[in-house]
Amino acid sequence: MKAHIQQLLEQAIVSLQTQNIIPEDIQLRIAIDRTKDKSHGDFANNLALMLAKPAKKNPRALAELIVANIPQSDLVTKMEIAGPGFINFFINPNYLEKQIDSAFSDPKLNIENSKNPQIIVVDYSSPNLAKEMHVGHLRSSVIGDAVARTLEFQGHHLIRQNHVGDWGTQFGMLLAYMEELRAKNEPIENNLSNLEIFYRAAKGRFDESEDFATRARNLVVELQGGNKACLKLWAEFNEISLSHCQKTYDRLGVSLTREDVRGESTYNKDLAVVVADLDKKGLLRESQGAKCVFLDNFKNKDGQPLPVIIQKKDGGFLYATSDLAAMRYRQNKLNADRVLYFVDARQGLHFQQVFEVARLAGFVKETTSLEHMPFGTVMGEDGRPFKTRSGTVAKLADLLTEAELRAYELVKDKNKEMDEQTLRQIASVVGIASVKYADLSKNRTSDYTFSFDSMLSFEGNTAPYLLYAYTRVASIFNKGDITMDSVTADISLTEEKEIDLASKLIQFSEVINSVAKQGMPHFLCAYLFELAGLFSSFYEACPILNAATERQKQSRLKLSALTAKTLKQGLSLLGINTLERM
Ligand code: ARG
Repeated sequence: MKAHIQQLLEQAIVSLQTQNIIPEDIQLRIAIDRTKDKSHGDFANNLALMLAKPAKKNPRALAELIVANIPQSDLVTKMEIAGPGFINFFINPNYLEKQIDSAFSDPKLNIENSKNPQIIVVDYSSPNLAKEMHVGHLRSSVIGDAVARTLEFQGHHLIRQNHVGDWGTQFGMLLAYMEELRAKNEPIENNLSNLEIFYRAAKGRFDESEDFATRARNLVVELQGGNKACLKLWAEFNEISLSHCQKTYDRLGVSLTREDVRGESTYNKDLAVVVADLDKKGLLRESQGAKCVFLDNFKNKDGQPLPVIIQKKDGGFLYATSDLAAMRYRQNKLNADRVLYFVDARQGLHFQQVFEVARLAGFVKETTSLEHMPFGTVMGEDGRPFKTRSGTVAKLADLLTEAELRAYELVKDKNKEMDEQTLRQIASVVGIASVKYADLSKNRTSDYTFSFDSMLSFEGNTAPYLLYAYTRVASIFNKGDITMDSVTADISLTEEKEIDLASKLIQFSEVINSVAKQGMPHFLCAYLFELAGLFSSFYEACPILNAATERQKQSRLKLSALTAKTLKQGLSLLGINTLERM
């Protein structure tokens, strides 16, 4: 709908340009806003205010000229000029009715497939394998997954990449510890069942014994040099760590699989090529023995250029080097049009730098879009980065378990008669959904406070509220013994609450577009929350099963069914399952 109004305005501009009222060379973005107050119409636009100066006209007079030059449209019933020169558009309810009818009969709810499908690589989750996944990995995993699902729904070709940290100095320490255990005939498997404890024990040995530390350092060199025995031990460790990750993804309903894992180690052979290529392009400079790229745009506090270190003095490669190799791979082998990185905001500088190096080196095409999608930190209620009560970093698996337990109490309280197994199933869906939704519903660029109490509340923009809203709509159909798809009558909108709900329903595709473009799932959460609220108001004001006429009943059932489908589809794009009852 916005796009249609935009087109109407563009045509008006062209017509005013041919009449020499507006200069030819004007470049502008036409922004259409939804009005807050429906008595001012449905959409508003400030074009006349923006063009007044170049057109040398008073804004209200110009607004009148624009309105006079807008072509006839079935969609717009009326236009009004308001205030200093805003143009307000009133939408034809018949148009709304048609849109609702067509969304209802379309399995994709009128979300069109992209006319220009792209190959999109999404780099998300990407934990370091040395340790078990902790609360910090929640954001990347769930936000990245929601955006990937949304883009896929629009018909893009998605390639998920789990760029796990499986290479680097910590592995020397872990391998040395594995060796020690093995020498003592202690089963490694058992020890690795808790990676946190394993990591701490290895670190303890590293700090207390000089011999151990030396052995650890040697093992890194041997590992990187391709020593078979080392590689075998390393693979054993990774296998266990990756299976921990996969368990968490499955519990969380994150769509990553083992096939999506392409860790830093897979680029090992390409690192030397990256260095050679940078050298060929004349981009490398030596600084204190290290090979670096200096970029003009990046300076430290003293105005000195900041180096991007590519290869250390001892020959070792860095995080940036594997990212450059990954970019070459994503361009050359995966043919990416767009690469999205869901990574902590604190890595912002790293991405700006490697993106620029990749461009200068020609590792990616000019048309390929590289986008860091940063997110803030998960904070505790004490205002510091979230920790467990004992002060250690909170393991993601433990948080999920606690959420499920708390949800169990909540659900049990509401359903005293429910059997144990059903209770557990529902509690698991509610618990996991609450953790995910709490994260997804916040603007990803800000920090947010992790609180079980607020994420499990039935009030506000939470998973329990939305899941419950969905079951309420579903229950209307159960009560009337009607299936959603059996509703056939054409929609007819007469009441204000019906029109409000219908206008919201047809905004679904606009919201999906914003999530896809900006990688911001909280737009979708806010939309679903508003939709559920509008449904409540409609439900209170407009009887459904007891509507005055059969026609009205059918029409309201259709509106309800489309609300249910939209909630379900929306939540599913967020990676959240709905429940038929709770
Ligand atoms: N393993 C890194 C970390 O835990 C995140 C990797 C993100 N992706 C990337 N291509 N750099 O901080």
